[in-house]
Amino acid sequence: MKSRNTTTFFLNGEKTAVTGADNSLMLADYLRERRGLVGTKIVCAEGDCGACTVLVTKKSRDGKKSSAFQSINSCIARVPQLDGLSVVTVEGLSQEQHSQCSVQKAVYEAHGSQCGFCTPGFIMALSELVDRRKQSGHSNLSEKEIKNALTGNLCRCTGYDAIIRGASSINPSQAEDLEKRYCSKQIERELQGVRKTPLVIETEHFSLAAPTRASEVTTWLKKGYRPLSGGTDFGVQVNKFKTDDTKVLSLHLVEKADVITVSSNRVSIGVRVTFAELRRAIEKRFPEFASYLDIFASPQIKNTASVVGNIANGSPIGDSIPALMACDAIVVIQSGAKKRKLELSKLYLGYRKLALKRGEWISGIEFQIPDKKTTVQFLKSSQRKDLDISAVNGALWIERGAGGKISKARLAVGGVGATVLRIAAVEEKLQGAKLSADLRASVVEALQKSITPLSDVRGTSAFRRVIVGNWLNETLKKIEFEARGVRS
Ligand SMILES: Cc1cc2nc3c(=O)[nH]c(=O)nc-3n(C[C@H](O)[C@H](O)[C@H](O)COP(=O)(O)OP(=O)(O)OC[C@H]3O[C@@H](n4cnc5c(N)ncnc54)[C@H](O)[C@@H]3O)c2cc1C
Ligand code: FES
Ligand code: FES
Repeated sequence: MKSRNTTTFFLNGEKTAVTGADNSLMLADYLRERRGLVGTKIVCAEGDCGACTVLVTKKSRDGKKSSAFQSINSCIARVPQLDGLSVVTVEGLSQEQHSQCSVQKAVYEAHGSQCGFCTPGFIMALSELVDRRKQSGHSNLSEKEIKNALTGNLCRCTGYDAIIRGASSINPSQAEDLEKRYCSKQIERELQGVRKTPLVIETEHFSLAAPTRASEVTTWLKKGYRPLSGGTDFGVQVNKFKTDDTKVLSLHLVEKADVITVSSNRVSIGVRVTFAELRRAIEKRFPEFASYLDIFASPQIKNTASVVGNIANGSPIGDSIPALMACDAIVVIQSGAKKRKLELSKLYLGYRKLALKRGEWISGIEFQIPDKKTTVQFLKSSQRKDLDISAVNGALWIERGAGGKISKARLAVGGVGATVLRIAAVEEKLQGAKLSADLRASVVEALQKSITPLSDVRGTSAFRRVIVGNWLNETLKKIEFEARGVRS
């Protein structure tokens, strides 16, 4: 199949082609060093502070819009990851040069900036929110949504009150129409054309392949290319010199990669579906899972990080893994055109070791949605609520059968061993049983016998044991009392 060797995207409305070694740069470095767009700042270079935030349009390959502009961290996004998208930096917000857009004006007038280093990042994160609200016809922003939109942005000197006050004064319906300028029909037509052709870049020190057909992925894997979905894990490793992989297989052009299907009792997602997209898709049908995702990373990371990337990363504290295991998730594994399915709980053979054969990759995941007889509860314990990595996490799925007995139980816990664990000993005790204080004591004991948590900077082994034990006991107590019509 014909391929191209140039990453192509729109940058502040201008068609941009990146050739050769510049494709190995992170977008933030490319903007600053190659394009002189120094409004985008770099502080942490690992997705934690938001100073490098830019906006991108996100459309599926058939051109259907999945949402308006989305904020991303440009410090961990390699240039080819922007291929086929429209990118807006802080320089592109105002209508005229040296003037301020309404978000900038509002933050400035509320004295929301001192040294100014974090300010462009805050402005971009707020611009995503303002644009989303403008497109849905809203005329004001609540303090809660402003705070949620800014969980991925850190400021060390101004203090957040002034920034939030400034943001509260914005009327989205009167803000500039970014979509009209940077997401016009003509731009989208051109980008659709770009996304139809595979991208292959080969330079002395860096190679990247982005096939459009899922069946071609294996060919590149067999040549030693490393798969890249959203790149949030991989980007940090590159910046911190923790990987020397120079051959990258980007999945951004693969057919149906962005597809989510929600049926009456199951959700099925493609390889590039992000946490933000999953949250939107399940918000009404599975609000407990959607709320759990609220404390996953930041908006910028959730707009980029894929669910498949999270499970493929195989971290014992990956937040989606226990949740998906409890929801009976099945992983779709592909090699060439062949697909096989595997229970997520069987994917992990050891610490970050996956049951994938040479040439195999994960092309999707399916999981169950609870019905009225089912309760699902989630746990994430971290040192701070937002943008933090879990010390322990977990999920419990309980189906109630006849006579108040449990007809199905699934418990998965992370941060208590080399991989996320399904706790069979607990599940067996719960299956067919009626909840009681004695049963709770006995399942907590079974849980403690099944886990071997480590002590590290996020918590001691004893702390982890106490957290998961108490959570399981309290969750079962709540379910037991609710079934009896008593409030715990
Ligand atoms: C600031 C920050 C905050 C974060 N917060 C959280 C958090 O709260 N909770 C949490 O769980 N994680 C968190 N993460 C980790 C990360 O964002 C997630 O693990 C994310 O889901 C990874 O998805 P990705 O698409 O970006 O993966 P990528 O970086 O693209 O890939 C991750 C790994 O999986 C491999 N891989 C990717 N796709 C495939 C595939 N299709 N088949 C086989 N292998 C594949 C890659 O080679 C790589 O080794 C955070 C990361 C950052 C930088
Ligand atoms: S520089 Fe801190 S998130 Fe990118
Ligand atoms: S204004 Fe100085 S860090 Fe925010």
